[in-house]
Amino acid sequence: MQVLVVKDYQEMSRKAAELFRTRMQDKSSLVLGLATGSTPVGTYQELIQMVEKGELSFEKTTAFNLDEYCGLGSDHRQSYARFMQDQLFQSVDIQTGRTFIPNGMEEDVQEECANYDALIEKHGGIDLQLLGIGGNGHIGFNEPDKSLSAGTHEVQLDERTIQANSRFFNSMDEVPKRALTMGMGSILKAKEILLLASGANKAEAVAGLLSGKITTDNPASFLQVHPKVTVIIDRELADCLEEEKIA
Ligand code: PGA
Repeated sequence: MQVLVVKDYQEMSRKAAELFRTRMQDKSSLVLGLATGSTPVGTYQELIQMVEKGELSFEKTTAFNLDEYCGLGSDHRQSYARFMQDQLFQSVDIQTGRTFIPNGMEEDVQEECANYDALIEKHGGIDLQLLGIGGNGHIGFNEPDKSLSAGTHEVQLDERTIQANSRFFNSMDEVPKRALTMGMGSILKAKEILLLASGANKAEAVAGLLSGKITTDNPASFLQVHPKVTVIIDRELADCLEEEKIA
């Protein structure tokens, strides 16, 4: 696992976008795994600028998103489908038919999840998976638990996650309590993983990620067994970690 410490959120976003650009230039038909939340927004802005400058094209790229809230349709302003349109897809040349996200409105959840995993496989698996990390160590919506699921599945969101997500909703009642998420197996099968984290509130989770111990209490800690992971953290977060962890 390679850990890069950068000055701040902007530099983290720039470095992440540069890695995307390199991989997308190496293979135009790259299959991306994409994330939502505040963390990747800066990266998406950098990627949009690269497309505008003609340095990058998403024309042959396929994108699978990690997760979606249950009960929110793609037209809901807080759905992750809408987030991806607003933050990236509408501003780059990606083809609509090449963007995928679990359908949180689907009644047959098991079938939806199985189909999503099959679709990822059909596209040859994910080449580059972008991840944020929850304050509780979740990746996607794989929440700390006694056991974790391998494939795409429905989850009950952790209290801490619901609290963190409430900043985007008018009231706690409106915050979805369930979601569909790619599982740990789907994430770990990605050929390469890029995890971004900034700010002191992610320090505990990132300490677990770099701890040398693997535990379902910190799902991100499983990334330690993956052969090709880059973690980019900002100085504020790094200053909260023990030095040997990031040496
Ligand atoms: P954030 O969320 O980027 O909004 O901090 C990250 C996550 O929960 O995975």
